[in-house]
Amino acid sequence: MAILFTGGAGYIGSHCFYEFTDNQQDVVVVDNLSTGHRKALPKDIKFYQGSVGDKNLLMKIFNEHNIDCVVHFAGSLLVEESVNNPEKYYHNNVVNSLNLLNCMHKAGVHQIIFSSTASVYGSHPKQIFDEQDPTSPESPYAQSKLVVENIIKDFAKAHDFKFIILRYFNVAGVDHDLRTGIYNENSTHLVKVACEVATGKREQLAIFGTDYETRDGTCIRDYIHVSDLANAHYLAYKNISSGSKNNQIYNCGYGTGHSVKEIVNAIEKCTQKKLNCVESDRRPGDPVAVIASSQKIKDQLNWSPQLENIETIINSVLSWESFNQ
Ligand code: UD1
Repeated sequence: MAILFTGGAGYIGSHCFYEFTDNQQDVVVVDNLSTGHRKALPKDIKFYQGSVGDKNLLMKIFNEHNIDCVVHFAGSLLVEESVNNPEKYYHNNVVNSLNLLNCMHKAGVHQIIFSSTASVYGSHPKQIFDEQDPTSPESPYAQSKLVVENIIKDFAKAHDFKFIILRYFNVAGVDHDLRTGIYNENSTHLVKVACEVATGKREQLAIFGTDYETRDGTCIRDYIHVSDLANAHYLAYKNISSGSKNNQIYNCGYGTGHSVKEIVNAIEKCTQKKLNCVESDRRPGDPVAVIASSQKIKDQLNWSPQLENIETIINSVLSWESFNQ
């Protein structure tokens, strides 16, 4: 049996590729390389360049391989871009996912693990979210992910699909062996941007908003190491394929919040150097604090994160940036 990764050449998809193949799984990748990078993956793998919107390509892949589960990473993911260009998000995330599900159904592949996001919860004074909390997406990006969650649930009811939906919190960090990393040069991702400043690749870090109602005025997020997230996908696959846990949604985060200034301090501690920062206006659409309750995935999938330390995350990104000078 093989597993199909859509978007497997992206940041999270490629880290998951190594987690699955390290565990002797047979992985087939489809990626249109719009934001993914072929070099993030080994040369000699089963790789198809193309879109999940391409019905003929998907049917060809399902015909050529004995796929038992799809891990669906492919999609667009920038909140601010989605506000300005919602059509791109509804097309890439909703229309293309629907095409994927239709092709899976036609090919008799009925198991899917889907990459969703903590941003489906929106802003809420509660700040620590569990899977039972109401959703309130505040951007077309978040909305598009929630629509796909709902489509998947309806396919489960109508066509006996089995699914696990993973809601990612703030994914950061890089593979310990630097087999892949974060290639995006125009990243807006806090840890990546700040580590680029620390390694001399960017001039300065703008801190977006210092007047939030938090302990130091800056926004709080739950940063999860991408390799722990990759392991959560592997456990999801083991559970879905054994039939022990199906049709569940799991938060993927550590349950610990770090403010923007705490990230800056942690980087300064790791590098023993002052980081060039400037205080700037709030970024539109940023919620004050988003932290995961991750008890459910720990209880049900026995997820046991190994890299739950902000300095471990930062040091891995600093290594990656230095390695890629
Ligand atoms: C991230 C994800 C988003 C996901 C969400 C889930 C990215 C790019 N976005 O959004 O897809 O749905 O988590 O919770 O990974 N910041 C600065 N200066 C910067 C960059 C960021 O101050 O140059 C601040 C932001 O205002 C924010 C925090 O750092 O408060 C984190 O920002 P960012 O890394 O962009 O992630 P999110 O917007 O939380």
